[in-house]
Amino acid sequence: MKLFQIVALLAFFQGVVSVPVSDFQERASQGLRLLQLGDDLEPVWKTEEEKLDLLEQDIGFFDLTETYEIEQSLAPVAQLKVASTAFAAPSHQKKVKPLLRKLDTKQQAKWLKTLTEFNNRYYTQEDGEKAAKFIQKTVKKLVSGRKHISVKAFKHSWTQTSTVVRFEAAKSANKNAPVTIIGAHMDSINGRSATARAPGADDDGTGSVSLMDVVRVLAKDGFKPTTPLEFHWYAAEEVGLLGSQDIAVKYKADGKQVKGMLQCDMTGYTKPGAEEVMGLVRDFTDPAVSDFVAQLAETYSRIRTVDTTCGYACSDHGSWTRQGYPAAFNFETPFGLHNPLIHTANDTVNAPGFSWEHSVEFAKVVLGFAYELTA
Ligand SMILES: *[C@@H]1O[C@H](CO)[C@@H](O)[C@H](O)[C@H]1NC(C)=O
Ligand SMILES: [Zn+2]
Repeated sequence: MKLFQIVALLAFFQGVVSVPVSDFQERASQGLRLLQLGDDLEPVWKTEEEKLDLLEQDIGFFDLTETYEIEQSLAPVAQLKVASTAFAAPSHQKKVKPLLRKLDTKQQAKWLKTLTEFNNRYYTQEDGEKAAKFIQKTVKKLVSGRKHISVKAFKHSWTQTSTVVRFEAAKSANKNAPVTIIGAHMDSINGRSATARAPGADDDGTGSVSLMDVVRVLAKDGFKPTTPLEFHWYAAEEVGLLGSQDIAVKYKADGKQVKGMLQCDMTGYTKPGAEEVMGLVRDFTDPAVSDFVAQLAETYSRIRTVDTTCGYACSDHGSWTRQGYPAAFNFETPFGLHNPLIHTANDTVNAPGFSWEHSVEFAKVVLGFAYELTA
């Protein structure tokens, strides 16, 4: 009984699936997608059409098809034992607070305008990749002259690339130290079709431009972290977390360790009439990283977090949690009070409840997370 429980718990934790690989190749080559709808559920094969139906019903899942084989080949890595001091109370107020004042929502709004002017940022569309290139080009300019910062396109098996910006550790001895990661997804979707208009201003244009602005502020300041720091803009989040899974599985295959991951997906909306708070997601996240995010909000933001849950595979933090890495997710509202216009042509900055004053508070937490964990 005990042994059974331990085995079951391990399977739960590692998201182990028991689809035979021979069967996998045959079905994948027929164009079927392998989806996992819960950690305690066996993955299921769905047609592309059935998959889109699930998306329309807002049912969360990992689309395992692109990463299944490599994931199966990986030995489980022992989860990084994060030193208890890693998430001690924030202590760099003197350095961080002046940087927070440099965040610039007018600059963010200009970038968001460009991102929302693409017809959509769907992962198979030319415009989806043009949007990724816009981010890469813009961030390259922001960090030009800073040799310790690199900007790379991460290629996938589909059209849209993800973007990885890395601040190397000041001392080369720390090159392979656990990396701190902040993520947003840069794709957008209209539930109706791959070609329909999807400005995706809030989802997740807001998170995307928040990260760009934090990179701008840190690069301009000449910030050189003690341990590596990365900013990720994921492709193909909306269709089963494809981009972030590709990257998280690669990091695990390469034996990389992660100090903490923070997802920044939808920060621009606060429900008119409701109390203005941040929704700190407590399911499929790491308690220590999440507690630290709550402390960062208290220290660096005008508004506080309240605990919420968002369900299975609801954003890219799930891809990191799935691989055993410690991740957190700070969301625009308690789940359910969030922007009702996402995944439609009306997800724009003109939507009622859209607020840069709200969004910038999340950028402050992101900047605090980056600085406090890597300085
Ligand atoms: C978008 O806004 C227009 C104009 O207000 C409205 O007619 C339409 O129904 C809205 N569509 C969605 C999907 O919310
Ligand atoms: Zn999103």
